[in-house]
Amino acid sequence: MSWDLVGERIIHLHSELRASWPHLSRLAVAVYDHETDRLNTFVNSGDGQRQLQNYSAKLSEVPSLKQLAEQHSPRIKQDLRDQPQPLSPHTQWLIEAGFASSYTMPLYGNDHLIGFLFFDADRSNYFTETMVRYLAVYTELISAIITNQLAPIYILRGALNTVRHLALKRDSETACHIRRVGRYAQFIAFKLAPQIDLSDEYIEFVLQYAPMHDIGKIGVPDNILLKRGELSPDEYEAAKIHVLSGLEIIDSVVDEFDLGHLAHIDILRNIIGTHHERFDGTGYPNGLAGEAIPLEGRITAVADVLDALTTRRSYKPAWSFEEAIDYLQAKSGSMFDPLCVAPLLDHIGELREIHDCFKDRDEDIPSASD
Ligand SMILES: [Fe+2]
Ligand SMILES: [Fe+2]
Repeated sequence: MSWDLVGERIIHLHSELRASWPHLSRLAVAVYDHETDRLNTFVNSGDGQRQLQNYSAKLSEVPSLKQLAEQHSPRIKQDLRDQPQPLSPHTQWLIEAGFASSYTMPLYGNDHLIGFLFFDADRSNYFTETMVRYLAVYTELISAIITNQLAPIYILRGALNTVRHLALKRDSETACHIRRVGRYAQFIAFKLAPQIDLSDEYIEFVLQYAPMHDIGKIGVPDNILLKRGELSPDEYEAAKIHVLSGLEIIDSVVDEFDLGHLAHIDILRNIIGTHHERFDGTGYPNGLAGEAIPLEGRITAVADVLDALTTRRSYKPAWSFEEAIDYLQAKSGSMFDPLCVAPLLDHIGELREIHDCFKDRDEDIPSASD
């Protein structure tokens, strides 16, 4: 089943629009990440080369967009070349790609900024009053599609965070751990994107869902979850249950909130269900190997272990990023997919930035006696 539903619908809408407005050659949406102040490309519709993918920028570094977001108002640039210098990298890219005018609209869900919608035309002065009136209907529609697609993620996240919060006191992992796993998983997917053609939409879902990988741990007894040192074989078997409990929890939340129609829930199920599979087939619960393990499961496995190694736990000190990456590399091909380890190798600085941005406070790290 294809999960790329927003993309497909937007492309369809765009082709409808182009029947009446043939020079409206690009339609794109970027989503806003409140935690990092970053705008990330999300969906794109346009001709072949003229698409901007896997692009990310800080909103605070694009004052003109920030202003639109604050004013809740659209912006028309009738001639992209006739703008105050220096041009933003985004405007520069548009000009080089042959676009001449643009219409930009901030999108909101429950009054919170969720992103921006960009219409670009290859003629200047294309966004006349009549056209803008016409586009308003489509803007509403696209805004509703995006909000409807993203809202269930927030519902799920809210429901699962509540569950997790109740269980957090007894977990050896911190709230920051799960956020960092999401960020590392997003980082790996982002670096792999050009090589294996991952869409921005996929990367966004990986970011949102990777933090939920261990939701089933709330079903693991305290004496196992909080044990210092190695688990006995029996305890290890009992801890493995968290994968299947996680899938059960997701199925009941999906059922309860009636989210079964959302194809991207499969990405979440795959992350929960396969983050302990190993590339050589020796993992659990199903002993899947190689590409039989969904990509999002292989990515999350690397992200999860990277964070476990580089942070202090009640039973071990933090390893340096160099040591952790050496370990991941040594296990690449056996435990981990080499494809998902490779993006970490030359980017220790960026990984450290993620680590520092979502840092645990000492009191957040539960000790085994908690
Ligand atoms: Fe796990
Ligand atoms: Fe974890």
